[in-house]
Amino acid sequence: MTTVTQAVLERRSTRAFLDKPVERSTLVSLLQTAGRSPSGSNLQPWFVDALTGDELAAFLGEVKKSMAVNQRGEGSEYTLYPDDMAEEYRSRRFRCGEDMYATIGVERENKMGRIMQFARNFEFFDAPVGLFFSINRSFEQPQWAHLGMFMQSFMLLAHEQGLATCPQEAWSAMYKTVSRFLQLPEDRILYCGMALGYPNPEAPINSLVTERESVKNFATLRGF
Ligand SMILES: Cc1cc2nc3c(=O)[nH]c(=O)nc-3n(C[C@H](O)[C@H](O)[C@H](O)COP(=O)(O)O)c2cc1C
Repeated sequence: MTTVTQAVLERRSTRAFLDKPVERSTLVSLLQTAGRSPSGSNLQPWFVDALTGDELAAFLGEVKKSMAVNQRGEGSEYTLYPDDMAEEYRSRRFRCGEDMYATIGVERENKMGRIMQFARNFEFFDAPVGLFFSINRSFEQPQWAHLGMFMQSFMLLAHEQGLATCPQEAWSAMYKTVSRFLQLPEDRILYCGMALGYPNPEAPINSLVTERESVKNFATLRGF
């Protein structure tokens, strides 16, 4: 049995998948258990839409059509990163991108290679399941944080089942196509997509293990 510690340490954003379907019962069980995540006043503010098979293919067809017209995406309903991000965050973001492209030998000068890899987001990296996480528009930071807790629970539980995930805020740039295809009600805002499937252990891009700060750089302990 996977321990929580193992799941937290072993989960990785996975960007290449095996051509192997995910059973409906597996997904339902993951969602049901992730639904035990905490939320303020137990609001449970999360909504999930899942696509596979023909539905996923039809959706990706719509995405292709939109991308042909909107090469830079459809805009965004929320700010992904502030323009004036402090240096420590900018350098972590830079490092994360550099390390990922290094796994597939795409150099910094290879702008087209980077664009092509980024565009793989909009194919869910060929995962057999695409998920979307949305929330009521009236909610602000607290409930968005709760949705994030739900997503992390889901990812850890998926890992326990031998599945892998990649959360994808990139999908916020396709919010119009996503909202239309899923027929999200007007009062719902798309937060994030997520690729779900069995990981391809041989794909170089899945070899990426991202860095983390040590505790002394983000925690202040007093009285210990
Ligand atoms: C909410 C969220 C959105 C993310 N969006 C994307 C995305 O659009 N595309 C992508 O390739 N990775 C995305 N990531 C993955 C991050 O780059 C990744 O979590 C980070 O680099 C740490 O790596 P790890 O998940 O392998 O530990 C996202 C992660 C989170 C938590």
